[in-house]
Amino acid sequence: DKAGYRHFMAKEIAEQPVVFDAALSHYLGADGLPQLPLDFSGFDRIVLVACGTASYACHIAKYWFEQIARIPAEIDVASEFRYRAPVLSPRSLAIFVSQSGETADTLAALRHVRGQVAQVAAVVNVPTSSIAREADIALPIFAGVEVGVASTKAFTCQLSVLAAMALQAALQRGAQSADEIAALAADLRLVPGLINASLTGLEAIAPIARQLAQARDVLFLGRGAMYPLALEAALKLKEISYIHAEAYASGELKHGPIALIDADVPVVVMAPRDALFDKTVSNMQEVMARHGKVLLISDAEGIAEAGAGVWHSLAMPSVAPVWAPILYAIPAQLLAYHTAIAKGTDVDQPRNLAKSVTVE
Ligand code: F6R
Repeated sequence: DKAGYRHFMAKEIAEQPVVFDAALSHYLGADGLPQLPLDFSGFDRIVLVACGTASYACHIAKYWFEQIARIPAEIDVASEFRYRAPVLSPRSLAIFVSQSGETADTLAALRHVRGQVAQVAAVVNVPTSSIAREADIALPIFAGVEVGVASTKAFTCQLSVLAAMALQAALQRGAQSADEIAALAADLRLVPGLINASLTGLEAIAPIARQLAQARDVLFLGRGAMYPLALEAALKLKEISYIHAEAYASGELKHGPIALIDADVPVVVMAPRDALFDKTVSNMQEVMARHGKVLLISDAEGIAEAGAGVWHSLAMPSVAPVWAPILYAIPAQLLAYHTAIAKGTDVDQPRNLAKSVTVE
């Protein structure tokens, strides 16, 4: 049931303020502190493994575990992880993230680590799934059924659980004080309201997407944890609009991809005003100097400061920088959605894709 929406994807994007909040309420206690059934104090590292969109959630979480909890975190896509002879620590926590809980590569990777790590956790949407059942502990993401093949609400709900895990790791390992963790958790609790505000505030996206639909190639740039979000934004766009899209860490642009830039290549710059903002802006200016068409996604202050001469800009609500990758998933999803609509592709059932990939 699309509940009056034109597509499941639109419905699932719109559900995010509610489902994200539900997931947070489950993992953050009334005292504002994380309350997961996990003890991070003995782990020496964290290994995160998944495929596709779920792997980008892991990639963002790697930044969080390292920044917030000061614990080494390693990521890989499941299809590579198992075959590269990973060196595993018997004191590590392995986290497998999967919406369906049935992805063959992820399940095989989970089976590969069992017995070689201290604990295996599954972050899943389907609590009865194989990945949930075979892990030592399953942490549901509470996204509700996701029908659209392109994952949206599952991604943000995966991030909610991973964020709560990073906060708990920081608390239990003494990386930050309880007050600092409570402040970060309070900022996280603001995100559902900000998602809601951005859903209503982003009407400007449809006309921009109609122009984006003319492009043959689109690049996405981000720094820090916005880099994996840029990867996710590019994946969403290519999956449902069939436009070739790639993402780079902003600082990598000058090491090769800048050769692609000309007046026909839109470059989406995902740049919340964080500590790296000025560096991202200078990368953006390198693009503009080569006549690249920049779509700047930032907050009002960022756009006021750096938006001169850009092709388009989209103003986002201000957000604690650490949680910006969650909020900026919304314009990434909407941009892909409206571009696909403009191209007339099958948004909910893109060609060649299946909701759950149960072959290796
Ligand atoms: C992208 C998408 C896929 C899945 C991937 C993993 O929109 O949906 O990239 O994220 O196939 O699927 P799960 O999370 O079910 O393991």
